[in-house]
Amino acid sequence: MARLLELQRASLAFGGLHAVRDLDLDVREGEIVSLIGPNGAGKTTIFNLITGVYTPTGGDIRFADQSIAGLLPHKITRLGVARTFQSLRLFLNMTVKENVKAATYGATKAMPWESILRTPRARREEREVDALAEDVLSFFGERLMGYRWDQPAYVLSYANRRRLEIARALAARPRLLLLDEPAAGMNPSETHEITELIGRLRDERGVTILVIEHDMHVVEGISDRVIALDHGEKVTEGTFDHCATHPAVVESYLGRDPDALAAE
Ligand SMILES: Nc1ncnc2c1ncn2[C@@H]1O[C@H](COP(=O)(O)OP(=O)(O)OP(=O)(O)O)[C@@H](O)[C@H]1O
Ligand SMILES: [Mg+2]
Repeated sequence: MARLLELQRASLAFGGLHAVRDLDLDVREGEIVSLIGPNGAGKTTIFNLITGVYTPTGGDIRFADQSIAGLLPHKITRLGVARTFQSLRLFLNMTVKENVKAATYGATKAMPWESILRTPRARREEREVDALAEDVLSFFGERLMGYRWDQPAYVLSYANRRRLEIARALAARPRLLLLDEPAAGMNPSETHEITELIGRLRDERGVTILVIEHDMHVVEGISDRVIALDHGEKVTEGTFDHCATHPAVVESYLGRDPDALAAE
């Protein structure tokens, strides 16, 4: 598998705080890779670096064989990187379908004046955007189907808002999808469902996925590979079993010596 994303000794400092330090990380086309680590480990900051919210203070970030460090976020989106946010960014007063359509507009070519005058190109694009939104929403089956498309986002359950956030990211037609805690706040059956959905995104849509997740059942269920972080640095990487039992990973979560814990 070819490398799709590569961080080469990437660093980001906020003043004296090294949120990410000398991080090497790669994701190959078609993989599902999970980022784990305790609160403040630097996981979301890594997403912010990949999507151009921040420019690395050291090292490089490469996507599909080109450096994307320092590019503006919308340029990185256009190259094929989309993300969801830990705190959702929906337009709550817009309908479900409008939320998804709004997320596709970066990819269309018609000028604003063409939309106002409704030129043939603008009308064709409007139909394409509509079809794309419906296609993306269909992927979520009954959860975001039919009558829900015309409901305002504020009537959706919390789990459905999280699904809609993923639908919005898919509307940008990404090659690489970054999911920031997709199962946060979900109950066990919703968590099971989102685990399956992430697998289907890769298997049926061919999307490569880098996911931040605290729920270890989800991480175990979806990951080809797991990368464990603490204090902005990689602790270890490998299979789920390797990471879940690695003493330094256990210690980073518990903040104490695992042997001492075992002895209790
Ligand atoms: N804009 C910012 N300015 C200053 N410090 C920041 C900024 N963003 C993040 N940090 C700090 O960088 C570190 C990493 O934060 P980050 O949000 O990446 O952690 P995280 O691993 O996503 O944690 P969580 O699991 O709680 O979401 C933290 O110490 C945080 O306080
Ligand atoms: Mg975070």
